[in-house]
Amino acid sequence: MPNLHPVIDRFHRAGQGQVFAFFDALAGDAQRALLEQAAEIDLDEVARLNRTLIAPGAAAGVDLTGLAPAPYEPLPEHGGDAHRWGAAKAAGEAALRNGRVAAFTVAGGQGTRLGYDGPKGTFRVTPVHQKPLFQVFAEKILAAGHRYGRPLHWFIMTSHANHAATEAFFTEHRCFGLDPARVHFFRQGRMPAVGFDGKILLEAKDALALAPDGHGGSLRALERSGALDLMQRERIDIISYFQVDNPLVRCIDPAFFGWHILAGSEMTSKMVPKAYAEEKVGHFCMQAGRLVVVEYSDLPLAVQRETDAAGRLRYPAGSIAIHVLDREFVRRMAVGGEGAALPFHRADKKILTLDAAGRPLLSEKANGVKFEMFVFDALPFARHPLVVETRRADDFSPVKNATGLDSPQTCRDDQLRQFARWLHAQGATLETDATGLPRAPLEVSPLFGYDEDSFATAWARLDPKPAVTPGLHLS
Ligand code: UTP
Repeated sequence: MPNLHPVIDRFHRAGQGQVFAFFDALAGDAQRALLEQAAEIDLDEVARLNRTLIAPGAAAGVDLTGLAPAPYEPLPEHGGDAHRWGAAKAAGEAALRNGRVAAFTVAGGQGTRLGYDGPKGTFRVTPVHQKPLFQVFAEKILAAGHRYGRPLHWFIMTSHANHAATEAFFTEHRCFGLDPARVHFFRQGRMPAVGFDGKILLEAKDALALAPDGHGGSLRALERSGALDLMQRERIDIISYFQVDNPLVRCIDPAFFGWHILAGSEMTSKMVPKAYAEEKVGHFCMQAGRLVVVEYSDLPLAVQRETDAAGRLRYPAGSIAIHVLDREFVRRMAVGGEGAALPFHRADKKILTLDAAGRPLLSEKANGVKFEMFVFDALPFARHPLVVETRRADDFSPVKNATGLDSPQTCRDDQLRQFARWLHAQGATLETDATGLPRAPLEVSPLFGYDEDSFATAWARLDPKPAVTPGLHLS
């Protein structure tokens, strides 16, 4: 084939020439758009993934040899050492006062289960004022900055699909009171989707089928976007990682940061004891001396249900996707230093593509594969990784589904229960049902109190104390 464009030539030599099947019939702009997308693709990486995840005989399933439960630091109420918890909190508070911490939200997901049209962070979640998720985090970060006398930087990873809408939302709301110079947006990477034959799929004649590369893509994206360099200039070395769908998260949690610092850890993760044996969470485990997370879908039910002599679950530690990462560890993972690299996982999905004649092909079942990285796969590469227990009610109630489990309703109720607990702890009177759910709606703004401690401080300052009446809003 004479005089092929170098990108097209590269694709042909890699056996991926089908991507340009309709190229000659495209207008100039469309040709340029396709070439630009194609130039982004790391064909060696695609070939490797085809070999290791797709080709017949590629390793199926996860190797569970030598799996054992992972140790973790229990809360004082579960036998943890209260003095060490106190020391951890003090160390974390010092780090916050010294400006060493940045908040980091991964918000590049597609949110298909929720079925909400728009970036998930713009979804309204609070019980009375219907604040969007992004506002809840913004106000926690703002309030923590005031509390520790150092405004925090906040990094937000978006996707190509939701980047512009996310930025526009923050502009429209004036960053919810945060200094715009401290709020940073960057896009995550994309991976091409392939058919079961390993061939890269087209979404349109002039566009590849590209999908976000998973929350694990955040490590590369932090590096590529220059976020790590910015952190270095600002002397930030502790990255507080959390997901966009969980308004309960204590994204600025001094004790959690302190455990990470005192252990000299490069990555520290929160765990909750599983609510029941088959709960659909990742399980913290040890394997060949390394800390790993094994997804429930990869762990046989018999193992999930195993108990010890006292009848306690042998694998109680569930992952709730809250981590602290050391900045230079992220850099090492991103650039592949010392052989560190996140593996890709294969997800078989329905993918919008074209048939041989260039007509849209809508498949009834999975017709191809997306490649995704998971952030918890960084744990086995971290030095001195650590798992720390937290109370579920203090940290975790995600909005994943439109109804049922982990839905707007369950999340709203969990926020209400939390406000009620904080009020009860201060001696306020309010009526709740047996699950701790207040009988009347109320809301505590994160600007008033964003965790039990900050709430107690703010409540102590109120004179006189307000009566807890329906619709009470502490702000
Ligand atoms: P989920 O695993 O819940 O995926 O993401 P999702 O795409 O948001 O939702 P579904 O599965 O389509 O319903 C957990 C967190 O990881 C982020 C999400 O934004 C969410 O905060 N994420 C996920 C990314 O940032 N990028 C990705 O490629 C995937």
